[in-house]
Amino acid sequence: MATQPPPSVVVVGSYVQDLTWRCATFPIAGQTTIGTFTTGPGGKGSNQAIAAGRAGADTLFVGAVGTDAFAAVAEAFYRENGIAARFVPKPRHATGTAAILVNDEGQNEIVVALGANGVLARADLPPALFAGAKVVVTQLETSLAAAAHALRSGRRAGAITVLNPAPMRTDFDPALLKLADILIPNETEFVALVNQLASAANSADSIYTEAQLAAEPPARTHARARELGVPTVIVTLGKRGCLLSQANGYSLIAGHRVKAVDTTGAGDAFVGGFAAGLVEHAGDVAAAARLGQAVAALSVTKPGTAPAMPWRREVLKFLKTRA
Ligand code: RIB
Repeated sequence: MATQPPPSVVVVGSYVQDLTWRCATFPIAGQTTIGTFTTGPGGKGSNQAIAAGRAGADTLFVGAVGTDAFAAVAEAFYRENGIAARFVPKPRHATGTAAILVNDEGQNEIVVALGANGVLARADLPPALFAGAKVVVTQLETSLAAAAHALRSGRRAGAITVLNPAPMRTDFDPALLKLADILIPNETEFVALVNQLASAANSADSIYTEAQLAAEPPARTHARARELGVPTVIVTLGKRGCLLSQANGYSLIAGHRVKAVDTTGAGDAFVGGFAAGLVEHAGDVAAAARLGQAVAALSVTKPGTAPAMPWRREVLKFLKTRA
């Protein structure tokens, strides 16, 4: 009997049922506004796995769910997509849920209840899951112990380890950075990381802000990225693309101009597309980032998160038009 080849990309992370309300503008405190409702599969880890799998990488998602109806949605979604998943059941916890508001400009506000994701444990991640993996990806939407264990296991298996520090948390342990070969923060997460490290070092530097990040020369951002101690740092900058920072220098990779209907999950699309690109381009991070940009650009042209991730044929067609 033929044995299945191991997956090239292993994503350990969150699965969440997204509950999304669209409204013209976000309500202010005390205000009620009328909108429309949809629901579907989401969660940063799962979105990344779906993006990587649809972009063409043989992918395995590993995460925790409850034993409720939302868990059944998760299983069915992965079956329909033909992407491998290992859902660890946590009968005493609910499947994670997110309340997402999306306004007419496609921007979002999110509250996540981690539920089962928060109790994903080291014991749920045996070494066999990582055997043969080329890229291991994790984020901060599970227990932090599980995230650290995933990165350690990836290293042991000889994979490239990728940490997406999302959502950034006050209990984030900077020791996690030592386990990552590649760190992919967005602007908010990058600013928070820089400030956290400065405060741990009792630095007299004033608080770094997103406004400063937007205004400063890229060489300054690169210098700040070097302080994080991760060999490759990719700061995603929304429409502006991303900054790729490595010991030998930095480069800016432009984003694609598209008409955005929903930017929720764009960062996940980038990370998943990037992971698939790392496999496709044998570890070439710039080429992988370009694939990530294309996947992210296409993802924002459709509503929703995981269901909005583009398939490989769409990405290739898009790249042809942008060449
Ligand atoms: O990054 C977008 C995701 O964040 C959503 O799918 C939601 O589930 C939250 O986890």
